[in-house]
Amino acid sequence: MNKKERKGILLSGGLGSRLFPITKGLSKQLMPIYDKPMVYFPLSVLMLAGIRDIALITNPENIGLYKKVLEDGSQWGINLTYLSQPSPDGIAQAYILAEDFLKGSTSALILGDNLFYGDKLSDLLIKANNNEHGATIFGYRVSNPSEYGVIRYGENENIALEIQEKPAKPPSNYAVSGLYFFDNDVCEKAKNLKPSKRGELEITCLLNSYLRDHNLNVINMGRGYTWLDTGTHESLLDAGNFVRTIQKRQGLHIGSPDEISYQKGWIDKEQLIKRANLFDKTSYGKYLEQISLDF
Ligand code: TTP
Repeated sequence: MNKKERKGILLSGGLGSRLFPITKGLSKQLMPIYDKPMVYFPLSVLMLAGIRDIALITNPENIGLYKKVLEDGSQWGINLTYLSQPSPDGIAQAYILAEDFLKGSTSALILGDNLFYGDKLSDLLIKANNNEHGATIFGYRVSNPSEYGVIRYGENENIALEIQEKPAKPPSNYAVSGLYFFDNDVCEKAKNLKPSKRGELEITCLLNSYLRDHNLNVINMGRGYTWLDTGTHESLLDAGNFVRTIQKRQGLHIGSPDEISYQKGWIDKEQLIKRANLFDKTSYGKYLEQISLDF
């Protein structure tokens, strides 16, 4: 029997209030991180995990913009579906909105303002993709854990006892990053959540319900990985500088769905050259052209 392929959810709604006034009239996840729209970075992560059927969820007024930027995905050999979140009622609401799209498949959810980078990232993602049981999260050490969901560990750092949402006294320095893999129980679990004091369906509550069922796997990303979120003016600029520095030094791009789809064989050389020609005035276009000559 063929096993069902995991589907992806790219969550790109929200208010973006920490980026006001920039995001008063523009969607945060379309802001530039140096030379690409922010949403390219989390999309690339789903693609690196081998996921090709992806729903992007955003505010109703922004759907047209995302369609213009990302189209239907066929330029990358993937399938993109657009779903609307009428108001930003929490990250876990994604699983109520996407139930019909998922049709009982396992899934991975990534936040549209998160950037992951590091050697062997693909291996880590493919490992998480291959595990069909329970939920998998990625812990990452940060200097400011109080701003995130934080992991309270048991006797070692492979066993999580609890996830605390933005705790005043964090039980560890490990934040839950914005990438989650779930089995096909997730929609039912999301439907059983109650809104928190701030009126949101919290991803932390969803994860804690997996924990209570002894079904939460934690993979800690070591110091060789980079996880950035880009929701404030400072972190947005830091992410842009990071991407520019690495790309300039290595001559290799971060967050390129074009490169990933070509490397995976989801598009052919002709399709890649077509994309390169679209961007021929930029170093990104020249990079794509170079890749088409190299491989
Ligand atoms: P946040 O950064 O927590 O919220 P936000 O994007 O609305 O920004 P701000 O706090 O500045 O007002 O959200 C994390 C990610 O999840 C981000 O990519 C937006 C997305 N999101 C939704 O799409 N829908 C939601 O209901 C929420 C809460 C977040």
